[in-house]
Amino acid sequence: MEKYIITGGKPLKGEVTISGAKNAAVAILPATVLANDVCIIENLPDISDVRMEIDMLKALGARVERLSPTVLKIDTSTIDCTEVPLELGIKMRASYYFLGSLLSRFGEANVPMPGGCNLGARPIDQHLKAFMALNATYELDYSMINVSTEHLTAAHVFFDMVSVGATINAMLAAVMADGTTILENVAKEPHIVDVANFLNTMGADIRGAGTDVIKINGVKRMHGANYSIIPDQIEAGTFMVMAAASRGDILVKNIIPKHLEAITSKLRAVGAEVYEFDDSIHIIGVDRYESTNIKTMPHPGFPTDLQPVMGVLLCIADGTSIITEGIWDSRFKYCDELNKMGASIQVEGRVAVFEGVEKLKAAPVKATDLRAGAALVTAALIAEGTSEISEVQHVERGYVDIVKKIRALGGDIRKIDIPDDEALKKAY
Ligand code: UD1
Repeated sequence: MEKYIITGGKPLKGEVTISGAKNAAVAILPATVLANDVCIIENLPDISDVRMEIDMLKALGARVERLSPTVLKIDTSTIDCTEVPLELGIKMRASYYFLGSLLSRFGEANVPMPGGCNLGARPIDQHLKAFMALNATYELDYSMINVSTEHLTAAHVFFDMVSVGATINAMLAAVMADGTTILENVAKEPHIVDVANFLNTMGADIRGAGTDVIKINGVKRMHGANYSIIPDQIEAGTFMVMAAASRGDILVKNIIPKHLEAITSKLRAVGAEVYEFDDSIHIIGVDRYESTNIKTMPHPGFPTDLQPVMGVLLCIADGTSIITEGIWDSRFKYCDELNKMGASIQVEGRVAVFEGVEKLKAAPVKATDLRAGAALVTAALIAEGTSEISEVQHVERGYVDIVKKIRALGGDIRKIDIPDDEALKKAY
């Protein structure tokens, strides 16, 4: 079992280069299926979720070649199977994007019920609603979702709620449907725009991505493309908060400042110094932070994925801060862990009340999901003493070289591998 050992108290200082966006990458890889051709994808984050999707592409019959650590060549013309293996697909959420892309190209797809972070109920009814509207049918069969169609036809879909996944899956399914599809009440996250741009580079005709309404004129066929993924706004936001919380000074490079406006404005509201440049942001921490209230919302609101890490800063801000989680039912599990480190947080449903404390203290804690893990790493970096964080595989699903990047900023973090009970039993 891998753990992080972190001794806190050192201000993080220096420069960090942000990797490609996880949530764009995990949609763009399944989208390459539509090409029936060769795609070159650049600025891919080398994280375990991406590696799992590469395995899924290979299992479908695609040829995948790594041209460099961040560049992949993917030939989807050799795909001869429409079923994502259960043992792969069940491990992550974004495997469900193969539903949209395989359905679009082959008229059918078999994909395991998606896994991923446990943030409460994560239904996929809106994905299925879009597929049905486009003239597909579905069946659920022993942990597999089967979608199929004789022929996809354009539709007008009004989503009941704003969903990143359903918006992307509907785009994937509609690009080659006959006629003009209108998607309303869609998500507007930067990765929605990135996926739409990628699809357009492959020959699709999608307009309006980044607004509430997306219009898709179905095209006869798609083709291969070269494409570079946008920088990860959540990784960037995480390092911005780490800079502030550790009272450090970090230049966060290779980013799009516009994508970070919500976090930039909250960091300024609590008193951090934030300076924006064309493709970088400079954050300088201060001794004392003011309290603030946050409500997470779909883009351009404050991103739910940065809520846990921002919660760490609120632990040491003066006075009372309140976070209201507007997306997920169960996204405050990290608060129990932070309370073990001396924080004072009370959670009631989707609301967490933070009473600022002077400092956090080291403790053994557990990463309950990806962004909770990032929050605990941040907390351990500012805590007094040496903390041990377990279940760090969650963190590595979404952050490229996080240990290396933090060490380069002067943070005292190392990863250790402790044999788990099973391994020990086998050894003796
Ligand atoms: C994506 C992100 C995740 C982020 C979330 C919200 C990926 C791989 N993951 O998740 O990191 O936290 O967006 O920004 O991109 N909902 C339904 N029915 C559906 C779909 C969603 O009720 O069919 C609800 C969800 O329960 C949730 C809300 O809609 O309350 C938003 O979910 P959604 O935007 O779909 O999140 P994901 O795409 O799963």
